[in-house]
Amino acid sequence: MGQIQAVIFDLDGVITDTAEYHYLAWKQLADDLGIPMDRSFNEQLKGVGRKESLDKILEHGGKHLTEEEKEFYATKKNEHYKTFIQDITPDDLLPGILDFMKEIKEAGIQTALASASKNAKPVIKRLEVEQYLDTVVDAAQVTNGKPDPEIFIKGADQLSVDPAYCVGVEDAQAGVQAIKAAGMYAVGIGAEEALSQADWVVQQPSQLSLEELKRRLEM
Ligand code: BG6
Ligand code: MG
Repeated sequence: MGQIQAVIFDLDGVITDTAEYHYLAWKQLADDLGIPMDRSFNEQLKGVGRKESLDKILEHGGKHLTEEEKEFYATKKNEHYKTFIQDITPDDLLPGILDFMKEIKEAGIQTALASASKNAKPVIKRLEVEQYLDTVVDAAQVTNGKPDPEIFIKGADQLSVDPAYCVGVEDAQAGVQAIKAAGMYAVGIGAEEALSQADWVVQQPSQLSLEELKRRLEM
């Protein structure tokens, strides 16, 4: 791919462990609706927008709700999620991610955030990482959610970088698909089985380094 010009980060599950809060909030809702939900099913929800996630849970449980009821439950999930994120501080950054972001910036490489969450801005503010992100694309700015590549393409566009020189970092299957569909190099964070489409998979952000990334890009 040549020189890396930009790294585009997902937020939930990459920069901080809010993926766990999304899971807990959805699990609570599924329990209320009498729909069984486990962590394996949750892999399908990672990176997926609020409304689409609720649709997947309802389909999984064979339950039909009116648009009004869906609106009610999606809001309820978000209220629950918001109670989890209200106390986030920089201590909630995943180990190693800040060092990696700093390493990238110091090397003169641009950065973007590509998050499907409408809560992304308050979360990055509380984490105090805004200064390490040159641009932010969140759910409010895109028409098509992950696995559609739109959010990653938009991130590259906002940095005026060709997607071919971008690296995307994701913890979600849908996110890795979106990065690949955008024509970028995909780094997956999490279990190898769930992220098999990624070009490089690490279990934790602490295993990321610019040196190793460059080495792999040259292979
Ligand atoms: C993504 C999460 O970042 O944002 C999903 O991985 C979540 O789990 C989605 O459903 C939408 O988030 P929100 O905060 O807008 O409900
Ligand atoms: Mg994520």
